Amino acid sequence: MTNTVIRTEQLNKVYRIGGLIRHVQINALDDVNLTVMSDEPVIVSLVGESGSGKTTLAKVILRLIEPTSGSAVVYDHLVAGPGIKPVRQQFLSAVQPIFQNPFEAFSSYRPVDAYLRLTARRIRQLDRDEGENAIKEALASVGLKYEDVRGKYPNQFSGGELQRVSVARALIPRPDIIIADEPVSMIDASLRMNVVNLFLSIKEQYKTSFLYITHDLATAYYISDYIAVMYRGTIVEFGKARAVLRDPQHPYTRLLLDSIPEVKKKWEQKQIALSDIETKEYRFAGCKFRNRCPLAQEVCSHQRPPAVKQADGREVYCHFA
Ligand SMILES: Nc1ncnc2c1ncn2[C@@H]1O[C@H](COP(=O)(O)OP(=O)(O)O)[C@@H](O)[C@H]1O
Ligand SMILES: [Mg+2]
Repeated sequence: MTNTVIRTEQLNKVYRIGGLIRHVQINALDDVNLTVMSDEPVIVSLVGESGSGKTTLAKVILRLIEPTSGSAVVYDHLVAGPGIKPVRQQFLSAVQPIFQNPFEAFSSYRPVDAYLRLTARRIRQLDRDEGENAIKEALASVGLKYEDVRGKYPNQFSGGELQRVSVARALIPRPDIIIADEPVSMIDASLRMNVVNLFLSIKEQYKTSFLYITHDLATAYYISDYIAVMYRGTIVEFGKARAVLRDPQHPYTRLLLDSIPEVKKKWEQKQIALSDIETKEYRFAGCKFRNRCPLAQEVCSHQRPPAVKQADGREVYCHFA
């Protein structure tokens, strides 16, 4: 295991919202230590309720935001931390994003193939003919024909089709890893499995890894090799996806799985604003889950549970798991 798919060390991101006098601090990432090593391509799922810090982690990895402290590496690219260099073309070709809403990822005033050509030229640095071939191939691997895409604007596609175009765009640079933040949540439920299956075939065909961020435990179970469960800016459980989802050890992972009768349904996205008590949880010194936890004891209120390594290699951040 020599390839570092992802490694974050003491990664922190603090947001301050509100004015100088009355402000709230949110530790959107709170000492996140996540390491995935693999010589084979892997799909790592990041799951957790809304507000757990998943998008913040994705944005740090994509270098869209800087963390408050700590470091992160993806496939040999230092993306945060001391010694960080300006964004380079090598990074752009190694780490590619797919966003939640494909209609926001493309401007509605330009035909989508303009983006594909731009990616081929600027990021993969192909000449015109090579670029056209790469685009054709990328579109074919997502089940689309160049003729059916050329000259079309985003509104001429369905959400599912346009998300396929974004997947094709992300493939053109031949990335080591694709960071997909809730890529199927805006897509019609009946088409989700198509996109998810597409990720599996891309992983095999192109040897591309994925960081797959989702609310949907069913698709996470179906495609992931590893899974990290987040709660209020911390990882609570990390390990092989099947092991974690079949036999969860952290009380929060258990709660998530219990709140759905089978691993087939998606849990409700909590869109409502967090109450004051909940925003306090982000700053808890001890375990952030303690107020909701059936196992909580005194120690949980002042001591952050360390990663307890289990026989199967998983890490469970709980004093009592
Ligand atoms: N730009 C921002 N400014 C202030 N707070 C933010 C910002 N982005 C995210 N947050 C807060 O950080 C926490 C984690 O958010 P996010 O990473 O989007 O979580 P998730 O993707 O798991 O829903 C949330 O409480 C969110 O409100
Ligand atoms: Mg998010």
